[in-house]
Amino acid sequence: MSQVLDLFSICGKTALITGANGGIGGAMAEALAEAGASIIVLQVPGDPNAAATKEALARVQPPVSFAAYDCDLADEAAILKTVAAIWDRDGREIDILVNCAGVSGHRPILDVDTAFREKVVRINMTANYVLTQEVGKRMIARTVCVRGTYILTPLTQGYFDNEPGFKEYILSRTPMGRWGEPKDFKGITVFFCSPASDYITGVRMPIDGGFHGR
Ligand SMILES: NC(=O)c1ccc[n+]([C@@H]2O[C@H](COP(=O)([O-])OP(=O)(O)OC[C@H]3O[C@@H](n4cnc5c(N)ncnc54)[C@H](O)[C@@H]3O)[C@@H](O)[C@H]2O)c1
Repeated sequence: MSQVLDLFSICGKTALITGANGGIGGAMAEALAEAGASIIVLQVPGDPNAAATKEALARVQPPVSFAAYDCDLADEAAILKTVAAIWDRDGREIDILVNCAGVSGHRPILDVDTAFREKVVRINMTANYVLTQEVGKRMIARTVCVRGTYILTPLTQGYFDNEPGFKEYILSRTPMGRWGEPKDFKGITVFFCSPASDYITGVRMPIDGGFHGR
């Protein structure tokens, strides 16, 4: 007999995820693998964190299949080529797409030069559109968005450690009384990628310890 927890199963599904060698994306990839999905990662060519992600996912029990493709998301042509290669070479159906790669400069607007602005737009925005279109062509797309606040990851560690008063300021605005961590994204990732959320689309879910409500 079917039980409610069966609704959260994604066993046998295949998830394509970007940013999986980083903090939040790493936790999301781990969550999807622990819930039974096969994982395909798109990663920066030569990413020094690639081996750690592969090892972490290899520890998941029961084991799931894992594949990594080098793809600079700042390069639209590379995205098209990589998605085509996944279909042509592997013949994989992709059931789940998680766009989590991104860069951040955390600098005043007057210090943003053209090269950096273009990089942010290409990686944080254009790549999401292109990937969603390319993968969406081959699946019944349902889009949802999770929105954090400041989450302690390699992206924010520098500000956390070095910017006077910054971590205290974020804490003072966070009713949950702590900084968010990548593991805070695990449960919601499985929920949004599983039949448990089948009647939900187009929402933006804050994972922010109450930061945006204060
Ligand atoms: N941590 C936060 O507080 C915070 C706040 C707001 C938004 N975000 C967003 O959440 C996402 C994950 O952030 P995180 O904190 O885990 O960061 P992270 O730096 O730990 O991970 C980001 C990942 O994106 C990958 N990436 C960057 N440029 C790429 C490129 N050109 N091609 C392929 N991959 C590339 C990196 O290699 C890394 O694996 C990002 O989109 C980030 O902008 C994070």
